[in-house]
Amino acid sequence: MKRVIIQGSSNSHGNTNHIAKLIQEEIKCDFIDLKNYNVGHFDYEFKNRQDDFLPLIKEISDYDLMLFLTPVYWYAMSGIMKTFFDRISDCLKIEKDTGRKFRGKYMASVSCGSEKKATEGFFIPFNLSAQYLGMKYIGDIHTWIEKDKPDKEVTHIVQSFIQESIKPLRDA
Ligand SMILES: Cc1cc2nc3c(=O)[nH]c(=O)nc-3n(C[C@H](O)[C@H](O)[C@H](O)COP(=O)(O)O)c2cc1C
Repeated sequence: MKRVIIQGSSNSHGNTNHIAKLIQEEIKCDFIDLKNYNVGHFDYEFKNRQDDFLPLIKEISDYDLMLFLTPVYWYAMSGIMKTFFDRISDCLKIEKDTGRKFRGKYMASVSCGSEKKATEGFFIPFNLSAQYLGMKYIGDIHTWIEKDKPDKEVTHIVQSFIQESIKPLRDA
């Protein structure tokens, strides 16, 4: 099973990246940092079809499991991540073959905030987007970093999620 972490933080080497590294210590997983790509806002006339989005989404569509990692910014996913999801709309119009490749694939999402308390409804857009794309949503976890790295509780949450929800998919 080909897996990829898709990180959408304004800080490539910040807290969300600590969680990405924690996941990569547990399972083999490629890594895409959305911050390294030039992805413009959704445009009804597809004027930005020459930016990095279309090659990027084609690359991502080859993976069996997509793990979306986003910081919590103002109780929601980061702007970088939201812009990326908005652009998936391109796949419904000008890149339909790629859009169809998402069907049957797996999605999971992970948030990283400064507060332990998860934001109510945070993962609804991920879950519903997976459903819309015909993907299987395998779940989500909220993580947080209070100081400079994940504490024992967060590490346990991440490891349990991998053990219970991701590793069993290996032969799916
Ligand atoms: C613009 C902005 C908004 C934030 N809003 C929230 C929030 O609503 N809830 C929360 O728990 N933390 C919030 N934080 C803190 C970040 O979620 C937290 O520090 C996170 O771990 C940062 O991850 P990063 O280093 O990958 O950006 C916010 C931080 C920023 C920069």
